[in-house]
Amino acid sequence: MAKFNENYLNLKESYLFSEIAKRVSAFEKAEPDKRIIRLGIGDVTLPLSGRVIESLHSAVDEMSKADTFKGYGPEQGYDFLRNAIKDYYKRNGVELDADEIFVSDGAKSDTGNITDLFSVDNTVLIPDPVYPVYVDTNTMNGRKIIYMDATADNGFLPMPDPNIHADMIYLCSPNNPTGAVYNKEQLEQWVEYALANDAVILFDSAYESFIQDKSLPRSIYAIKDAKKCAIEFCSLSKTAGFTGTRCGYTIVPKAITQKASNGSEMSLNKMWNRRQTTKFNGVPYIVQRGAAAVFTEEGMKEAQAMISIYRENAKIISDTMDRLGIRYFGGVNSPYIWFECPFGMESWDFFDKMLNEIQVVGTPGAGFGANGNNFFRLTSFNNKENTAEAMERFETLFK
Ligand SMILES: Cc1ncc(COP(=O)(O)O)c(C=O)c1O
Repeated sequence: MAKFNENYLNLKESYLFSEIAKRVSAFEKAEPDKRIIRLGIGDVTLPLSGRVIESLHSAVDEMSKADTFKGYGPEQGYDFLRNAIKDYYKRNGVELDADEIFVSDGAKSDTGNITDLFSVDNTVLIPDPVYPVYVDTNTMNGRKIIYMDATADNGFLPMPDPNIHADMIYLCSPNNPTGAVYNKEQLEQWVEYALANDAVILFDSAYESFIQDKSLPRSIYAIKDAKKCAIEFCSLSKTAGFTGTRCGYTIVPKAITQKASNGSEMSLNKMWNRRQTTKFNGVPYIVQRGAAAVFTEEGMKEAQAMISIYRENAKIISDTMDRLGIRYFGGVNSPYIWFECPFGMESWDFFDKMLNEIQVVGTPGAGFGANGNNFFRLTSFNNKENTAEAMERFETLFK
């Protein structure tokens, strides 16, 4: 009989969103007349922008004619999109070669798939709280995970500990769930640590387009020598509303190389290329055309206009926290507001209080790791009216 991968037994039940759904549905049954406002969603709500839709339509038309029809495309992505991404980085001060950019169907799959390139013997450093994909994919492979505490004391931005050795390091900035963003000096320390430990940083920048403070890095490659030790994952999901359309990109610099045990030279860029050409057949042409529209001047303006709407919602939430004197993180350069549960409550108890008393649904911090136990995540992805009403209701908890 085939032996199953028993590492799956070590996965924690992923019950966060199902438990939320269960509690909400029980409430709805008991109180059908009460209107619930959802500020727990990590998904975008605004439709794709005009340029993107135009580009998608014209790509569909191309598929209808024999002379412009496209079959299999390059697994790494079409040149038009790789070059558009390269130019985007250049505008942000980062020089990349187009063959360091791999177009993907989103950051979730690639942050998981990248584990294919690394030995199971590696030790992995992961913050707590965290986007659960990093933990689960490494658990599936059976790697040793060391957690680093992200707490209010370090602003939810853990820094390297010279006494701890790691081989793979996951960083997410702007962070989900905490909204915290590393500054340049902090990322410099991480790059220094990675180089000193021969480690690789797996940098998730899925929320980079929410950064408005120009002094904060939007890419790990804003840091000197990061190309020698960091892979970056990015996505159009939150930048341009592609959560359902699916497109992202992963940067694997050619400078990350290593001598193998048999003395041969190994390059992560070549390995990822080999992995992708073996296991992936590329992102649909139509989607890549839509994605390329995001990187045009007009497309970028439209994406930024969408982000400003989410930002205004984030401001409504953070203004409320300011008024109530509640400690929070994120919100300015991120769509997430991560606040300390009031009344000394734990996050699931506070979830129940919000649901029962004001019918506002958020996400209990405990669902992202033990350090989230007394914190709570609200998102800016609902509309302005609902966000404002939710916050009016929130204030009544304190009257
Ligand atoms: C930190 C982080 N990385 C990656 C993703 C997934 O992005 P994608 O839609 O590109 O798969 C998310 C989605 O919520 C996320 O929060």
